[in-house]
Amino acid sequence: MAQLWGGRFTKETDQLVYNFNASISFDQKFYRQDIRGSIAHATMLGETGIITKEEADKIVEGLNGILNDVEAGTLEISSKYEDIHSFVEATLIDRIGDTGKKLHTGRSRNDQVALDMKLYTRDEVVAIKGLIKELLLTLHKLMKENLDTYMPGFTHLQKAQPVTFAHHVGAYMEMFKRDYDRLSDIYDRMNYCPLGAGALAGTTYPLDRELTAKLLDFYGPTLNSMDSVSDRDYLIELLSAMSTICMHLSRFSEEIIIWNSNEYQFIELDDSYSTGSSIMPQKKNPDIAELVRGKTGRVYGALISLLTTMKGIPLAYNKDMQEDKELTFDAIDTVKGCIALFNGMISTMRLNKENMKASAMNGFTNATDAADYLVKNGVPFRDAHGIIGRLVLYCIDNNKAIDELTLDEFKEISPVFNEDIYDAISLETCVEKRNTIGAPGPEAMKQVIEINEKFLENI
Ligand code: ARG
Repeated sequence: MAQLWGGRFTKETDQLVYNFNASISFDQKFYRQDIRGSIAHATMLGETGIITKEEADKIVEGLNGILNDVEAGTLEISSKYEDIHSFVEATLIDRIGDTGKKLHTGRSRNDQVALDMKLYTRDEVVAIKGLIKELLLTLHKLMKENLDTYMPGFTHLQKAQPVTFAHHVGAYMEMFKRDYDRLSDIYDRMNYCPLGAGALAGTTYPLDRELTAKLLDFYGPTLNSMDSVSDRDYLIELLSAMSTICMHLSRFSEEIIIWNSNEYQFIELDDSYSTGSSIMPQKKNPDIAELVRGKTGRVYGALISLLTTMKGIPLAYNKDMQEDKELTFDAIDTVKGCIALFNGMISTMRLNKENMKASAMNGFTNATDAADYLVKNGVPFRDAHGIIGRLVLYCIDNNKAIDELTLDEFKEISPVFNEDIYDAISLETCVEKRNTIGAPGPEAMKQVIEINEKFLENI
């Protein structure tokens, strides 16, 4: 047991209590951020004359030494300390003597931990944005390559109208663009420095909070010391954004699993991203897609956990807040893994374009276009809908696709049909004529791809 606060106690902490309270097993994850924050704090103490320049230099040098030694593996973060803050401070005192005892002047572990966690998650927001960008580049490529890869579009998982693979992937492009922007928004809102808030009420030392904020690349200091030590909104926002990312990945995974199934065979996952069965030799399973779908629940769990932890906490700091760490770390690691693996999976999968096209041709996906044909020839839409309904029924009874009917069969159902019906309901026409912005037609898609190109250039 090694703690910073024994003074007013007459008894040793019970070992079980100590273990229950300690956080070093997980908060050592941000040792870099803890040291970086302390270097900024010591520099500021030196600049403001709260400690001497020489003392500040000595502390900074000592902290850099600790950082280097931990990175080099020559200094082990010992679990005999309560938390990472105690470990760094005690090691510093051990190494440079009494000057090290001045580091914590005008600071509390409450503003220190708020800072460390913010620095850590801020870096992770940038890392997740980088991974989303990689995914967007893959989707962009898939879109450009598949403007004429026809497939059925679905509603209720029933074939609805034909689209292209580019258009389907384009839907996910929009989702992940929003996810990217959401992370940027979070970064901007969270990027204010809590250091200097003290335990909850600031300090009487003339700290220069603008300076520490600047040294740590924040936009500025936070504006209320009680909020500074007890705000975890930015984590909740991040967990919410990550939950949305997972929800998008999970929906896409579900489609990959369906498309990869024996019944659909729209795509084939690469061997390197599939797994086998221990008993059934024929199996090639989409485990990665299933795991991404499955891990989504874990990230949602973290969000609900933290929301629940925070909901009953009076101002300002309370130890409940220590619970923010493990679940946030786990969610971040999970999301990063999911994005990277999902990206690898979809960049290596093969498309069975023939199967996709054949599926789009069977299933009456051109029924709306057949109705539109009648409308263009003067039939009111509601009547046209009824006529095509009867036509589809006839096709089902006779086991034919709409475009396999003879002109006589068409005319039997409505005399309005003419030879040009075949062109009007061909798969190519059904897709290519849909060119309002956002639709699957190639003209519309090219406009969107150009917009996406610019989006990607600017991120
Ligand atoms: N390990 C604590 C946390 O993660 C650090 C802050 C401790 N502050 C305190 N007053 N006990 O929240």
